[in-house]
Amino acid sequence: MKKIVVENLKYRYPLSNNLVLNGISFDVEEGEFIGIVGRNLAGKSTLCQALVGLVPHFYKGAYSGRVEISGVNVLESSIAELSKHIGIVFQNPFTQVTAAKLTVYEEIAFGLENLGIERKEMIKRIDYALNLLDIYRFKDRNPFELSGGQMQRLAIASIIAMKPDIIVLDEPTSQLDPQGSEEVFKAVQDLSKEGATIIMVEQKIEKIARFADRVMLMSEGKIIDYDAPTKIFSRDDLLSYGVQPPVFTTIGRLLGLKDKRTGLYPVTLDEAYRMMAKSEPHRS
Ligand SMILES: Nc1ncnc2c1ncn2[C@@H]1O[C@H](COP(=O)(O)OP(=O)(O)O)[C@@H](O)[C@H]1O
Ligand SMILES: [Mg+2]
Repeated sequence: MKKIVVENLKYRYPLSNNLVLNGISFDVEEGEFIGIVGRNLAGKSTLCQALVGLVPHFYKGAYSGRVEISGVNVLESSIAELSKHIGIVFQNPFTQVTAAKLTVYEEIAFGLENLGIERKEMIKRIDYALNLLDIYRFKDRNPFELSGGQMQRLAIASIIAMKPDIIVLDEPTSQLDPQGSEEVFKAVQDLSKEGATIIMVEQKIEKIARFADRVMLMSEGKIIDYDAPTKIFSRDDLLSYGVQPPVFTTIGRLLGLKDKRTGLYPVTLDEAYRMMAKSEPHRS
């Protein structure tokens, strides 16, 4: 079943002359993990905002084409209604955590109270989210006493508790240290395993190469390519779109390691290893 259908989406911010999204069409199947890559200002964040309805409901501007989320047309729906289907996690957890509440537990409850969820169901959902994001032990802490990685996991837990089928993450690890990033990637991987549909904008290409089912390469408001990670990261012109290939792809290129059948370079450590084992007879 298709979770997201976008057809010829064009968008211009108010007071701006150029199209930030210029004829975007793609779809996402239920349970897929989609990575979005592309240089700065390519329009990745604007596309994320269009998926959750902030474009155009909040930002206004000129909009044409169609975005359908779980069968609901974004234009014919409100942001609140859409939030039951799709949630977004931004770069900086500090801007996402409300600061209105004293504890981690209350922070997650806050969004649910706004949705009018009944108490018993609320407790169930909060416990589920706290456990899934592995922050149960912090439930009585003040959110601002958490590390960056823990706080970003709280931001994700608050979204998860609303039970959206689709989660959009816009560079959620860019403000985090390596350990915090690792924690967040692990959490996102768990969500994916639970069946959530994931859309993740991310500069850490090695992670996208490992986790994504499909990768979208964006440039100047357009989709250049939308395909399996191996296909995207084997492109000879990748750097010209401001995207560094995964380190394993670069090594594969240097060593001439190509998959014999597909002619594609490895994108993960496992693939590089497999191709190396095949290409070189064992010597001792
Ligand atoms: N709120 C805004 N108002 C006007 N222009 C914006 C706004 N946000 C982003 N833009 C413009 O939209 C273009 C794409 O930006 P963005 O979607 O943030 O790209 P990316 O996330 O790929 O870096 C840029 O030219 C940027 O200046
Ligand atoms: Mg961005």
